[in-house]
Amino acid sequence: MENINVPQHIGFIMDGNGRWAKKRAMPRNFGHSRGAEVFKKTINWCRELGVKCATFYAFSTENWKRPDDEIKGIMKLLRQYIKDIREFSDEDIRIIILGDISAFDEDIRAELLDITDTSKDNTGFIVGIALNYGGRAELALAAKKISERCVLGELSPDNITEQLVESCLYTSEMPPLDLVIRPSGEQRLSNFLIWQAAYAEFVFMDVLWPDFTKKDLENAIEEYAGRNRRFGGV
Ligand code: IPE
Ligand code: IPE
Ligand code: MG
Repeated sequence: MENINVPQHIGFIMDGNGRWAKKRAMPRNFGHSRGAEVFKKTINWCRELGVKCATFYAFSTENWKRPDDEIKGIMKLLRQYIKDIREFSDEDIRIIILGDISAFDEDIRAELLDITDTSKDNTGFIVGIALNYGGRAELALAAKKISERCVLGELSPDNITEQLVESCLYTSEMPPLDLVIRPSGEQRLSNFLIWQAAYAEFVFMDVLWPDFTKKDLENAIEEYAGRNRRFGGV
């Protein structure tokens, strides 16, 4: 892994937990619980490999369609996740939450706000966690913020630029997204970072998220390093 071009910001679509559990004749939430352990390990692997920022898709705006008992299990797990995330915020890691957390219970909301606030000056590494996140909702929210400023007369529509839209996204304080990794064999974004992924590289893998290893991460980074990113140039 030495002397190669390591991505600064990787997005992980943590998919395949349900299928992993099904293969073992276990409930889907067993897969989510294993997936949460891999999430923690992946943060450390990213740091060891020289990545600066990692964003994890944990719960989408569309995932509310799932059965009640699965949602309940995920919320229970989220409370556990929060304890783990708090340990990370003591290790010079900044935590940024992407998504509309108003949908979560009061205790979860308060914890998430506290963790993002107490870690905001940490500079060693950035962990983004997408919770009740959707790329379309993020863009609609940016449009809302910008139009409110126009209505107040602070801004004219002529001043709406790509940079301004970017400054209204959850990722505004993160480095540009270089690489999206999606395990589980699906080859789609499922509403993850749709604006930010405009020029990102994609690596799709057949491994299910609970089986994702450091070797898989290294392979994805090596593949990324061998790609020729032209950004529309020659
Ligand atoms: C991803 O795993 C976790 C969440 C969406 C919360 P899935 O639960 O989507 O697993 P599969 O795709 O059904 O295997
Ligand atoms: C994307 O996975 C969302 C997360 C990993 C949190 P899904 O399992 O929800 O995506 P689809 O339904 O296969 O597109
Ligand atoms: Mg899935």
